[in-house]
Amino acid sequence: MDTTTRFDPRISGLSQQVKDLANPQEVYSAKARDVRAEHIDGALHLYRHEDILALNKHPDVLGNGGRGGSFGHDARLIPLEIDGPDHRKWRRLLDPMFAPRQMMRLESQIRDLSRELIGTVREAGGGDLHDALAVPLPCQTFLGLIGAPVEDLDFFLEFKEGVLHPKGATTEEIDANMALAGAKLLEYFDGFLKDKRKTADKDEDVIAELMRAEFDGEPISEMDLINVLFLFMFAGLDTVTASMSCLVAWLGKNPGRRAELIADPDLLRPAIEELLRYEGPVPSGMRYPETDVDLGEGLIVAAGEQVNAFWAAANVDPTYHVDPLTVDFHREKTSHMTFAAGPHRCLGSHLARLELKVALEELFAMVPDFTVDTSNLRYDNVAVRTVTSIPVTV
Ligand code: HEM
Repeated sequence: MDTTTRFDPRISGLSQQVKDLANPQEVYSAKARDVRAEHIDGALHLYRHEDILALNKHPDVLGNGGRGGSFGHDARLIPLEIDGPDHRKWRRLLDPMFAPRQMMRLESQIRDLSRELIGTVREAGGGDLHDALAVPLPCQTFLGLIGAPVEDLDFFLEFKEGVLHPKGATTEEIDANMALAGAKLLEYFDGFLKDKRKTADKDEDVIAELMRAEFDGEPISEMDLINVLFLFMFAGLDTVTASMSCLVAWLGKNPGRRAELIADPDLLRPAIEELLRYEGPVPSGMRYPETDVDLGEGLIVAAGEQVNAFWAAANVDPTYHVDPLTVDFHREKTSHMTFAAGPHRCLGSHLARLELKVALEELFAMVPDFTVDTSNLRYDNVAVRTVTSIPVTV
């Protein structure tokens, strides 16, 4: 693969090397220690926190859409695949809809749903916490928040699997399978958005708010609305499921550390932050510098280069974090790259943190002694790190 071919991290050497490892952190950390930057399959891979932070914040570096749209959609996804003033305009509109105060209004609803879902597992004496909690809790919450039908969850899940984990061994096969999944979603939106417009003036959800929003006196076009919602349908549905599954599995494997959190509830917030650092579900993201970027000490990233920025390696970078492979709930330097950094920093981080906190609080309150069958945990680290099966007894 040369530098003119679009690089797909899913089929890159490093993704494939760690694809089903329970502890890819060891591989990532060794990379950050030994290799500051390297070319793999035509993309420059960066592993260190300070380098990635500098690149993310540089004004001449484009985000994920620097080489055009992807994820099975012809147009650029908003705001992930747009940059510059247009991106800032969209973030100014979207940020308040996902701000901490706005998310706090969802707390009691997230708690009720957590109790219901965990209650079902408790009554059955056990179950799979991936299917019984990590999938339905964030997905139902997110669909309710944006105003999409919760009863169509299976359809949305099939779509996000199709664009995030498409089948195929080559970029061409992957692109074709993603396009197939994308086309089904567009067909769905065709009918759904027409119906939604009929009630948008009084509905209180994100889609209705977007339908009422204006830029310079003009409503948002149907195409732009689709470009936002297409992204939401995988960004909002998959990542919290993934991180919840990783955190629950880690706490299952480390019952002593779980007991620490149960004994001291004030520790939960910093512990979630530390586990998000260690178990960050999105391994990497693409960046495209438009000018040469000098990262110091002889490392210059050339204009036109495609850069695979490894958030997961930056999170366990020993040149930045003290003892990075230790999960330390009292860590002093807490900044991590799990939600990326710079202008494209995750829009949904406050929602994600709230869902994780409430789910763990309820898990600790309702089934504090849950036991995980650690020999049957299944990890998938390609595209988004997830534990796809978490068998527990309670
Ligand atoms: C723990 C859960 C989550 C993680 C680890 C996560 C991670 C990330 C990362 C790494 C990025 C940067 C991608 C890049 O630039 O290459 C990102 C962007 C984004 N995330 Fe999240 N995310 C999470 C939850 C959510 C949720 C719940 C939403 C729902 C609104 C969301 C919406 C977005 C959007 C819209 C962007 C694009 C932001 C932009 O480009 O300006 N994320 N996320």
